[in-house]
Amino acid sequence: MQYQQLKPFPETFLWGASSSAYQCEGAYLEDGRTLCVSDTAPVPEGTTNFNDGVDHYHRFREDIALMAEMGFKEFRFSIAWPRILPQGTGEVNPLGVQHYHEVIDECLAHGIEPVVTLYHFDLPQILQDTYGGWASRQCIDDFVEYCRVCFAEYGSKVKYFLTINEQNMMILFQGSQYGGPKQQWQANHHMLVAQAKAMVLCHEMCPDSWIAPAPNIVAIYPATSSPADNLAAMDTDQLRNRLFLDTAVFGEYPEALWNWWVDQGIEPEVEDEDWVALKEAQPDFIAFNYYGAGCVKSITFDEGYQAIEEAKAQGGMVAFMTGMNTRPGMSQDVKNKLQVQTSMGMGIDPIGLHITLRQLWERYQLPLLITENGCGVPDELVFEDGEPRIHDDYRIDYLRQHIQACQAAITDGVDLMGYSPWSAFDLISTHQGITKRYGLIYVDRDEFDLKEMNRYRKDSFFWYKKVIASNGEDLD
Ligand code: BG6
Repeated sequence: MQYQQLKPFPETFLWGASSSAYQCEGAYLEDGRTLCVSDTAPVPEGTTNFNDGVDHYHRFREDIALMAEMGFKEFRFSIAWPRILPQGTGEVNPLGVQHYHEVIDECLAHGIEPVVTLYHFDLPQILQDTYGGWASRQCIDDFVEYCRVCFAEYGSKVKYFLTINEQNMMILFQGSQYGGPKQQWQANHHMLVAQAKAMVLCHEMCPDSWIAPAPNIVAIYPATSSPADNLAAMDTDQLRNRLFLDTAVFGEYPEALWNWWVDQGIEPEVEDEDWVALKEAQPDFIAFNYYGAGCVKSITFDEGYQAIEEAKAQGGMVAFMTGMNTRPGMSQDVKNKLQVQTSMGMGIDPIGLHITLRQLWERYQLPLLITENGCGVPDELVFEDGEPRIHDDYRIDYLRQHIQACQAAITDGVDLMGYSPWSAFDLISTHQGITKRYGLIYVDRDEFDLKEMNRYRKDSFFWYKKVIASNGEDLD
């Protein structure tokens, strides 16, 4: 529906932006930090690894000062588990603990609310090597113990904690590492129980803090108006979205999905105490990342398995994505021809964000925080009259449209707490290096030439500063 007049953003709206430790910190073996699983995963040829990041570990004060200059109300960053507990469990690393105290204190000194992700793709490698990481129930206890350290250290200063970043992407895209679908859903179940226990612990230890899951959630469109594709879209929504939020909010698996697993004999083993843990936990809000709605068609088991075999035969990253985006007996992702794309092929769908916000609000009735959304493309640094400039009007357009979608959803009645796009400053993309830049602040380094890593203000920096100063009124 359309409105004559949109509601303003609430006065308390959290404007800011996001980052994650392993993608920006660098210093990957400094001050006691050990390897995490993202440090050791292969990167595509021609692409940097994460070892140096953008040196945020040493330059966080400069970065936070720039965020303050933009008027940030919040900064979302993650704590690196292998910095706090280098052996994954047991002995705490005082230098790691001290580092995040300094980051948090620096934010607070600038009036910026720290929004802290406890776990963002950086499981300590030692836990993966010792017992297979999330394949083992042991990981539940180890995660909860790690969270206990974080809550004890930072709970009095941090109002907003996020449990696990994009559990759904980790499980759906990398789940084959566990050996088969049953094991994949078992590892997922361990994460869900770990998250539930962490939420309960947070409420016990930090009564003034709020905690939320942080999956990647997108509306799913049917490829055609056929009933079969509509049903496939509904089913995919259960698998891709509701599996991760119904369990977090209601403590229950989505019913149809569970029955589908049982039919195939691939449902996870759930101990009695797990049901109790899931039911006992309650998030205070929902954080979610959004990059563009999905689009699916219905597919049979046979067609699905065949499509995966064909994708495997092609090899490479595209095949990996294609293979993983086929769900035999349910659905297959299709390219939405109506969706505009960035120069790097990611969908631009602000109305999809509006739909997603409405779906989440209407299902869960919890405040929402957008913790990622953004335009990852190469930027060009030019010098005009000796001054560094980055004319990223495409990023401004992208952000503007998504902020307008937020305002439309707020006008519908959605309780939206804030907007924290990806990313505050350029950092290393999960698999496309530094070439794929999302930041409002430019970091001058290339894939293999670290240069001086100077920070420069992009055009989007100045634009976002105006947006924040006007509390979302001035989007020009
Ligand atoms: C999200 C992750 O999946 O998307 C981030 O939480 C990631 O870690 C972001 O960087 C953008 O994806 P990519 O692959 O372009 O870096």
